[in-house]
Amino acid sequence: MTAPDETARADELRRLITYHAERYFQEDEPEIADAEYDALVVELRRLEQENPELAADESPTARVGAAPAPRFAPVRHAVAMMSLDNAFSLDELYAWGQRLQRLLGAVQNGEPGARDDAAIQGGEDVAPATEVRSRPVQLVCEPKIDGLALSLRYESGHLVQAATRGDGTTGEDVTANVRTIRSIPAVLDLGDGEVPDVLEVRGEVYMAAADFEELNRRRAEAGERLFANPRNSAAGSLRQKDPAVTASRPLSFWGYQIGEVDGGAAGPAGSALHSQGDCLALISRAGLPVNPEIVVAADLDEAFAFCRSLEGRRHDLDYEVDGAVVKVDDLDLQRALGSTSRAPRWAIAYKFPPEERTTVLEEILVSIGRTGRATPFAKLAPVVVAGSTVSLATLHNEDQVRAKDVRPGDTVIVRKAGDVIPEVLGPVLAARPRGSAPWEFPTTCPACGEPLVRLEGESDTYCVNLECPAQRVQRIAHFGSRSAMDIEGLGEQRVAQLVERGLLVDVADLYALAASDLVDLEGFGELSVANLLGAIEASKGQGLARLLVALSIRHVGPTVASLLAGDLGDLDALRQAGEAELAAVEGVGPTIAASLVAFFSLAQNDAVVERLRQAGVRFSSDRPRAGGERLRQTLAGRSVVVTGTLDAFTREEAEAAILARGGKSPGSVSARTYALVVGATPGDSKLKKAESAGVPVLDEAAFVRLLDTGELD
Ligand code: IVH
Repeated sequence: MTAPDETARADELRRLITYHAERYFQEDEPEIADAEYDALVVELRRLEQENPELAADESPTARVGAAPAPRFAPVRHAVAMMSLDNAFSLDELYAWGQRLQRLLGAVQNGEPGARDDAAIQGGEDVAPATEVRSRPVQLVCEPKIDGLALSLRYESGHLVQAATRGDGTTGEDVTANVRTIRSIPAVLDLGDGEVPDVLEVRGEVYMAAADFEELNRRRAEAGERLFANPRNSAAGSLRQKDPAVTASRPLSFWGYQIGEVDGGAAGPAGSALHSQGDCLALISRAGLPVNPEIVVAADLDEAFAFCRSLEGRRHDLDYEVDGAVVKVDDLDLQRALGSTSRAPRWAIAYKFPPEERTTVLEEILVSIGRTGRATPFAKLAPVVVAGSTVSLATLHNEDQVRAKDVRPGDTVIVRKAGDVIPEVLGPVLAARPRGSAPWEFPTTCPACGEPLVRLEGESDTYCVNLECPAQRVQRIAHFGSRSAMDIEGLGEQRVAQLVERGLLVDVADLYALAASDLVDLEGFGELSVANLLGAIEASKGQGLARLLVALSIRHVGPTVASLLAGDLGDLDALRQAGEAELAAVEGVGPTIAASLVAFFSLAQNDAVVERLRQAGVRFSSDRPRAGGERLRQTLAGRSVVVTGTLDAFTREEAEAAILARGGKSPGSVSARTYALVVGATPGDSKLKKAESAGVPVLDEAAFVRLLDTGELD
């Protein structure tokens, strides 16, 4: 007997799955991430398997996709367009392989009924009574493209109809839209006598990553809503009422399957086609794109190797793949294995771990950096994405929030690809709470209440109040950071604690701290007090270059600081130098010179510098560079690529710093790249490339250490 709560849960799951399938397939506006949808299906399937009386013919576990949307004419597929069963781990893939092999053993040995009781997917052990081993089965391994399935019907070589999958039996007529896709030929390119009378090519319409980014860039410029990901963008672009809109969108296509086929090179009723390999070859010969990653695997082990390798390289590809599809190559074996109501038994989709999840954006907050830059960020209901919990994600700047139109209370799609910083892709509009309003960038600093300033033509907003406590914490923490005075034990939280206690107002106060100030502070023991005071004392001798970095002077990062230190040798010489003299230093232009002069002309800064002198902080350079002595060649022969905005370096400065140490800084990542340095708003493709090529990804602090030592840590 089924417990009432299980019956109710199964009903609820059916309702939810049907609802979300419609959002995904009909509206192209999913409200939950793919992985969350898959989890609902897995739960329902498990309930139905454990309680067979719950199974129903109309259950979504027995269905493909969703019914066609009424805005398109229906097309009945000559051959059903099936879905695929999923394996969510290599273990599940292995279990599928084992069952396939056993089932094939039964099929090859002509066991009656072997196929009918064989539910390959779903955990049933289908080993026949007598254990029969089959010969290793040849498999075709393909990337699982994250787009939408399309069937192209050619008659006598002419494209006559294009249809979406719909519910697998009936799809939507999108012929006029498909005619605008450049890589889909209107007429097949086969020799005379070769052209089949009927050829249905099935495959995936998708949007390449670069095309998606470019489309969203243009939409942001035009003030239009951004697409959350390439899949939604491809589906939304194809399923337009007006083909002119589709024509303006960069859509692509990979063919991977043949539906109805008759005549020409395919033979009567496709009799000349014996394998999936033959089908792909015909699709390609006909002039349709076939994915170059596809390989033939001699056995299951080779197929596993492909799945693992593709997973490692997934960010290397210029299109999104959400898994790998493994198919039995031999068409006779495929026919013998047959299908369930929704998916073939001869294929499986190995799904990669999800990189997108939905969660609730609880609040949009603004953090103030040491230069006063006000950066909006999202506080999220914690969610596990790609193996780690995400609860914060940067929103970069005011324009980005506006373009994405994310609002507090929204359900948002969060993406975290590999090691990459988590990102909010966009809101799920259908789940938006009633009465929500676009988020407004605050006009005053959340920390000090002074007005925030955004200069004409700049994308960043600043708090310009030097007394701002948030800036103060950031500036003091930066002063002690590894790239500056390197004071171990002086993290941001500790600085905040000391600022709150009134023990630190500016960086010079660090040198006046005494053990008696610290001992009764939370988290401080005798040893940590002694260590911190020791590290502060030791920092006095760091020398001019690090001191300049530590002072948080705009545009003065480690490279500029060491150029200045090498040239002028002493902080007093630097303070006395005029703009022209500073600008004449090699690698220091007028912008940096003006910034230095502005910094030292402020009485407050001057007073801090004097107190640093009195505390015994060394003002002289540790390595005078008489006559332009060369920097240590820590990066000799190495390529270091930079992407995104760094705090202490402009892009030119970062590149100059690499060159000055014997390195190169090309514009793109390859397998030979030594490291990729990532700042705020990095380029997606460089990150993806680095990840898949195994290139180490460094943040700014690690970059500074790299410049210094040549070591990756
Ligand atoms: S074969 C009967 N091959 O995945 C076999 N599908 O989850 C049907 N897909 O509806 C599909 N890449 O939209 C196949 N290389 C590939 C694929 C692929 C992506 C999609 C397709 C299908 C869905 C099933």
